Amino acid sequence: MSDEQRMWESGEAYEHYIGRWSRRVAADFLRWLGRPGGRWIDVGCGSGALSAAVLAAAAPESVVGVDASAQLVRYAQAITGPRARFLVADARRLPLRGGIADTCAAGLVLNFVPDSAAAVAEMRRVTRPGGTVAAYVWDYACGMQPIRCFWDAATEHDPRAAALDEGSRFPLCQPGPLAVHFAAAGLVDVETAALTVPTYFAGFSDYWTPFLGGQGPAPAYVMSLAPERRSMLRDTLAARLPVSADGAIELTARAFAVRGTVPGEVPARA
Ligand SMILES: C[S@@+](CC[C@H](N)C(=O)[O-])C[C@H]1O[C@@H](n2cnc3c(N)ncnc32)[C@H](O)[C@@H]1O
Repeated sequence: MSDEQRMWESGEAYEHYIGRWSRRVAADFLRWLGRPGGRWIDVGCGSGALSAAVLAAAAPESVVGVDASAQLVRYAQAITGPRARFLVADARRLPLRGGIADTCAAGLVLNFVPDSAAAVAEMRRVTRPGGTVAAYVWDYACGMQPIRCFWDAATEHDPRAAALDEGSRFPLCQPGPLAVHFAAAGLVDVETAALTVPTYFAGFSDYWTPFLGGQGPAPAYVMSLAPERRSMLRDTLAARLPVSADGAIELTARAFAVRGTVPGEVPARA
C-alpha cells in the first residue's frame, strides 16, 4: 500500500480529524449551491460527509458516492445506509455512464487528484447538459486555520515540512485557479464563493489527538516523526494556539467553492 493510500483508510480517524468540519462545510456548500432534488454523484466521497448532507438537505432522487479508498467507501455506506450507493473507483475514470447526474460534486478532493483536470472532465461527462458540476477545497494557504497553524509550527522545526505544507503544495485551492479549471473543462456560468465554518476544540488535546490518527497529509507527517520531534511540535503548537480562559481553542476553517453548468440542450426527463 502506498503512503497516499495509507492517508485515507480509517473512517473513524478521518472523522475526528477533518470529517467533523467537513460535514459543516458540506451543509453550507449545499445551501450555496441551491440544487435540491435530482440525481447526485459525490466524487471522492471519503467517509460520506457530502453524501450524508445531500441526503439530509437536498431531497435527492439518488446519490452515488465514488472514492479510491475501499475502507472509506465501506464507512460511508455504513453511516448513510441504503439510500446512497458507493463505488470504489478513481475520480479520473468514473465507472458511470455519461449524462446520468443532475449534480456532480467533489468535496475537499480535487487538490489530491494528481490530474485534477481529468477529474473535472469526468465530472462534466457524467453530468447532463444543464446540470451542475461543483467542488470545494480548503483554503490551506490562509483561512483553514487549524491546518495553517499546524504547518506554520511544523515548518519552524523541520525544513522538510515546507515541502509537505498544503498551503504551498496546492495552488489550485484559490478562487481564481478553481474558476479557470472549471472554465477550461468547458463549464459555463462559473462562480466561486468562500464558505467559513467555526472549528471549536474543547482543549489542546481535542486539537492535537486527531493528528495522531495518520489520516490526511498533516497527520501522516506527524506520524512520520520520531517521538521526541513529535513532542517538540506538540509543545510548539500548544504554546502558539489561542486558548480561552476555559481552555477552549476557537478557530475557523474556510473553504473555496466553485460551480459551473454543463452547456448544451437540456434533455427531457423520462
Ligand atoms: C480530504 S478527503 C475528502 C472526503 C470527503 N469528500 C469529505 O468531504 O470529507 C479526500 C478524499 O479523496 C479521495 N481521493 C484522493 N484521490 C482520489 C482519486 N484519484 N480518485 C478518487 N478518490 C480520491 C481520498 O480517498 C479521500 O477519501
